[in-house]
Amino acid sequence: MGARHGPGALHHWAFVLPGIVPRRPAPGNACGSGLATVWEHRRVLQSQLCSHASLTSPEILAWSARLRPMWDPDGTDDRQVMLHRKMWEWLFIARALEERGMLRAGRRGLGFGVGREPLVAAFAASGCTIVATDLDPERAREAGWTDTGAEYAGGLDGLNTHGLCPPEEFTSRVRFRHVDMTRLPADLGEFDFTWSSCAFEHLGSLEAGADFVVEQMRHVLPGGVAVHTTECNVSSDTETVESGGTVLYRRRDIEDLARRLQAMGYRIDYDLSEGNSPVDQHVDVPPFSDIHLRTALGQFVTTSVALIIERPARRRGALGRLGRQGRLGRQGRLGRQGRLGRQGRLGRQGRQ
Ligand SMILES: C[S@@+](CC[C@H](N)C(=O)[O-])C[C@H]1O[C@@H](n2cnc3c(N)ncnc32)[C@H](O)[C@@H]1O
Repeated sequence: MGARHGPGALHHWAFVLPGIVPRRPAPGNACGSGLATVWEHRRVLQSQLCSHASLTSPEILAWSARLRPMWDPDGTDDRQVMLHRKMWEWLFIARALEERGMLRAGRRGLGFGVGREPLVAAFAASGCTIVATDLDPERAREAGWTDTGAEYAGGLDGLNTHGLCPPEEFTSRVRFRHVDMTRLPADLGEFDFTWSSCAFEHLGSLEAGADFVVEQMRHVLPGGVAVHTTECNVSSDTETVESGGTVLYRRRDIEDLARRLQAMGYRIDYDLSEGNSPVDQHVDVPPFSDIHLRTALGQFVTTSVALIIERPARRRGALGRLGRQGRLGRQGRLGRQGRLGRQGRLGRQGRQ
């Protein structure tokens, strides 16, 4: 495995792993009584920091097994999962999308800064149609992303090297496009889901990364979801790396971004608690060990954070349904005649 960060690299990542604590349904309810299909579609994961508990939860381990050809190509590794935050990011993204019903035939996904990550092939194997994107080769070379050969593909070659998807299905379901995350093209289209792993901290500044997260929501369909991972500074909520090749989001930056998204009508629930096991507390520094959920970047300790942002489905409100049934009558007409206007105008003017 190569360096986690190319340009402005603050560290290299040895391949190890981290985790989530899905809230199990209480015994006796529908899920707890063993209805696996119900459990599958329960939205359990919320935005959170990488933790050992998360990484070793059954749902995340199931994805580790699915991706094993990538991290254990010889089939000789007796671990269930690598204790590495980068692995957690991939597994978490996959599980968060799966439990929201996104990884199935007919769903359309858009990946940003995909590098050589295994998710493109894994999602295509689930039946999804994928547009995988990354910087164009010249920009990637200038920025140093092509140096290791391990993190940049720049095309379809290199995105299914572990055979996670049958080749003919991969070819028919995956399209590649060069996209700069700081300038999303207007014709990118709309998707059921979007994702990025370890990418938006590389856009030059905290602000640029946050703007990307907000902007890319325009490409998520109503009822869809975006899952993005990035760096979280867990050693300071005041000082951090605000600009450069790799920036570090403080908790307060994540909370600001969440509030911004919520104000736009998107749903993001989060719990930024840290894990407290010895594996969580270990800060890995070169030469890296097999436990790499946290590392030191410059003077700061960092781990990964995953954001799950949902775009609410368009809902047929009660008034809309009544109207369609012809039962709205007076109230509907009043509304259309502007006699409900006072409330609406006040609302729009922000006086309520
Ligand atoms: C650390 S690598 C992560 C690659 C991959 N997502 C993974 O998890 O292995 C960062 C990726 O972000 C991409 N990237 C950096 N700046 C970008 C930008 N402005 N627009 C699009 N992609 C960018 C790089 O080309 C690279 O593929």
